[in-house]
Amino acid sequence: MRLSRAAAAVAVASLGVSLGCKIEPEPPELRFNLNPKFSDDPAFDEYLGDPTAQDQLRGALEMLFGTPSNPGFFLTEELLDDDFNPNSGVDDLTEAELEAMLADNGRRFAKAIAHVEAGEFDDVDLPREAIDLRRWWKDDMAAIEEARADEESDVDALIAEIQERWVYDLQNYYPTLRESAEMYRQQCLHCHGVEGGGDGPTADFLNPRPRDYRRGIFKFTALRDKARPRRQDVFRILSEGVYTTSMPSFRRFSDAQLHGLVDYVRLLSIRGRVEELAAVDYDYDEGGITLDGVIENYESEWDKWRSADDYVITYDGEVPPASQEMIARGRELFNDEATANCASCHGIDGRGNGPSAKEQDPETQEMVPIKDDWGEEIAPRDLTRGVYRFGRRPIDIYRRVHAGINGTPMPAQTTLTDPSGNRLLSDEDFWAIVHYVRFLGSHENGAGEGGH
Ligand code: HEC
Ligand code: HEC
Repeated sequence: MRLSRAAAAVAVASLGVSLGCKIEPEPPELRFNLNPKFSDDPAFDEYLGDPTAQDQLRGALEMLFGTPSNPGFFLTEELLDDDFNPNSGVDDLTEAELEAMLADNGRRFAKAIAHVEAGEFDDVDLPREAIDLRRWWKDDMAAIEEARADEESDVDALIAEIQERWVYDLQNYYPTLRESAEMYRQQCLHCHGVEGGGDGPTADFLNPRPRDYRRGIFKFTALRDKARPRRQDVFRILSEGVYTTSMPSFRRFSDAQLHGLVDYVRLLSIRGRVEELAAVDYDYDEGGITLDGVIENYESEWDKWRSADDYVITYDGEVPPASQEMIARGRELFNDEATANCASCHGIDGRGNGPSAKEQDPETQEMVPIKDDWGEEIAPRDLTRGVYRFGRRPIDIYRRVHAGINGTPMPAQTTLTDPSGNRLLSDEDFWAIVHYVRFLGSHENGAGEGGH
């Protein structure tokens, strides 16, 4: 009889119960599944017609990313040459991020550190997601017990060494990828799914749906050209949540834990993209899935994530004040069909009811809501409510106008040009629109909700 791994684990577990003893079986190792959505898309038909290809791709992905229980990035020569090791995300933090994280560690672990220093080891309480940290602590406590039983050993010296090491380790704590995966499993998986496909068990009940990271499309960045997010963009989303959606704020966790989650989101996203690229490029005559091809995509995807800083939208000039004239100019542009034409979606009065909020369904000919890049219905925002999902500062809205919202039909104004290639709107025009949008959502305009 062949038992699957999961069935075997269940068998062992029930054995433990029936014997009444304390067998604690290791949980079955979680595996990543291949993307089930491919079967809806004819672009993947050739790949799906070759089961061997799917096995090969599964193997290649496991080599590059590990499993949910034991994740890890494969280090290519290119990454090694660059001295960049994504398995230790802390190397990737800016000076300022590192400083903030260390200060935060100092606060979060203040009690634990005091107990370590006082030798009150039983009182040391470590975060439950920090599975490696807890394991290392247990090992050290066991070593002390062992030393106590052995008359030859110098227990005091051992304890002093452990105290010193742990004070340092707690102050400098940065989660392992395994710990971040555990954190993800506890906090994110039920919405975002094991593979980050936005298809966890609660996803079907949510509108908007949780993000599918596998396409590499992120909405909330400060960047142009649909670039991959920077660490700080994802960190900000985790810290603040997405206002008016089910995406919660995780500010109660430490900076170090949030950075670890950014690392893990990045892993899931790169994994999803590498899978998609391999499947869509699949060509039997070209040798099917090749490891070289997969690694090439892996490296180019990493390049995208690592070059995000080059895409930040900045504004160096003086921000024009929100004068009556600017707001009036903004209103004009907002409604102008030949230029910004925000009203086409957001409506003349900004309530999100413009004509382009709906489109004709090619099959039924009925008018249906427009869709986002994930194929979900999406409504232009009612701007009179003053709700902004990624910041209400003028620069935040400036960036929305500049770059549009990645993954949604909202276009980048900078890509709209006249026939000779000149931008339709100047930076000053952008500010006029920003001021008008803020006016629409303000109390002066009788708007109710304040937002955050
Ligand atoms: C209750 C469901 C829920 C949980 C739990 C949840 N999310 Fe989300 N998440 C969402 C939804 C919904 C969105 C999409 C919001 C939107 O499109 O405006 C989202 C969006 C995101 C985004 C995308 C931001 C962008 O720029 O596109 C990231 C990253 C993210 N979540 C990470 C996480 C992580 C990491 C966790 C766990 C620590 C988590 N989420 C937990 C529902 C959830
Ligand atoms: C093709 C339709 C379309 C056009 C044209 C359009 N938008 Fe949007 N806009 C949307 C959609 C859809 C959303 C909601 C995106 C979401 O919730 O993820 C949105 C959201 C917004 C938001 C909310 C941003 C946030 O942080 O939550 C602002 C502000 C906005 N639009 C301003 C504008 C302005 C200003 C223009 C014209 C320069 C414009 N939009 C043109 C479709 C459009």
